[in-house]
Amino acid sequence: MVDARCFEFKFLHAFLVLLLLLHMNNPSIGCIEREREALLAFKQGIVDTDNQLSSWGSSEVQNEDCCTWKGVECNLTGHVIELQLFNQSLQGSVPDVWGNMSSLRVLNLWENQFKGGFPNSFSKLCSLQTLVLSNNNLTGQFSELIQMLSKCAQNSLDFLDLSDNRLSGSLPESIEKMVRLTYLHVSGNQLTGRLPESIGNMSLRELGLYGNRLSGRLPESIGQMSKLVYMNLGMNSLEGEISETHFSQLSMLKTLDLSSNSLVLNFHSDWVVRQ
Ligand SMILES: *[C@@H]1O[C@H](CO)[C@@H](O)[C@H](O)[C@H]1NC(C)=O
Ligand SMILES: *[C@@H]1O[C@H](CO)[C@@H](O)[C@H](O)[C@H]1NC(C)=O
Ligand SMILES: *[C@@H]1O[C@H](CO)[C@@H](O)[C@H](O)[C@H]1NC(C)=O
Ligand SMILES: *[C@@H]1O[C@H](CO)[C@@H](O)[C@H](O)[C@H]1NC(C)=O
Ligand SMILES: *[C@@H]1O[C@H](CO)[C@@H](O)[C@H](O)[C@H]1NC(C)=O
Repeated sequence: MVDARCFEFKFLHAFLVLLLLLHMNNPSIGCIEREREALLAFKQGIVDTDNQLSSWGSSEVQNEDCCTWKGVECNLTGHVIELQLFNQSLQGSVPDVWGNMSSLRVLNLWENQFKGGFPNSFSKLCSLQTLVLSNNNLTGQFSELIQMLSKCAQNSLDFLDLSDNRLSGSLPESIEKMVRLTYLHVSGNQLTGRLPESIGNMSLRELGLYGNRLSGRLPESIGQMSKLVYMNLGMNSLEGEISETHFSQLSMLKTLDLSSNSLVLNFHSDWVVRQ
């Protein structure tokens, strides 16, 4: 009888210890300290006119666990994996605070009033899958961003939307290093120069470059982008002839806009897309 009770007690004790351990691993207890510091530095570096980030606290009286902050999502071990801060009237430059945020998979700052260039520490965002900075007032160089993002050994970026900013520069040949990139939208900016030959080596499903200042001939290599479903190159200064070769393997293409350029179409009347 005594033995059994003792066993029962030990069992209960072990159970309580287990509960405590599980509790300590619970992300709601706290996020990773250096990631929390980076988020606080982000908040400090911007102008939050509408006080949208009021849940982002720094002291214990406030809310210390960054996993519960507005727009922040952590994984089960407390690493910040998503930052969704779209349409929050945030202003200022995008702060250079990303050096300790290498777990981040989604960064969405769509529809704010961010201005200026891209912070250097973007090159540390090596888990990034989705980057949305559209509808801001950014003036950076597109090629600089690509250079930074392609520094990562494993290149995970799948979705890049920079539409409706004031970005300049051109699409660099090195863009083909973004091997996972599937959605590339940079419409409504001030990009110049030609489309690079290397674009034909990419696995894009969507390419949106409407409303820039792209010039020169379309590389025939675009005809190799066999996964392309959507291509919008309208409202640029593209010129020269486009022929069957430009579409040779585009059998998935559903939406094509080449309007408002100086392109000359040269197709045989019996032309069909090869399947
Ligand atoms: C942005 O948020 C405001 C207020 O919360 C809302 O009225 C507006 O429709 C939103 N804009 C967009 C483009 O979603
Ligand atoms: C990362 O966090 C550590 C510890 O808080 C800090 O010392 C370091 O300066 C941070 N690095 C960057 C690049 O912010
Ligand atoms: C959370 O993210 C970190 C950093 O990316 C990763 O090492 C860890 O395995 C993730 N934890 C879970 C439970 O997915
Ligand atoms: C973008 O920046 C320009 C020049 O600094 C400014 O005139 C304009 O009002 C800004 N637009 C928005 C939407 O913030
Ligand atoms: C595509 O990649 C292959 C192999 O790396 C390379 O030989 C070729 O030049 C590339 N094509 C373009 C258009 O850059």
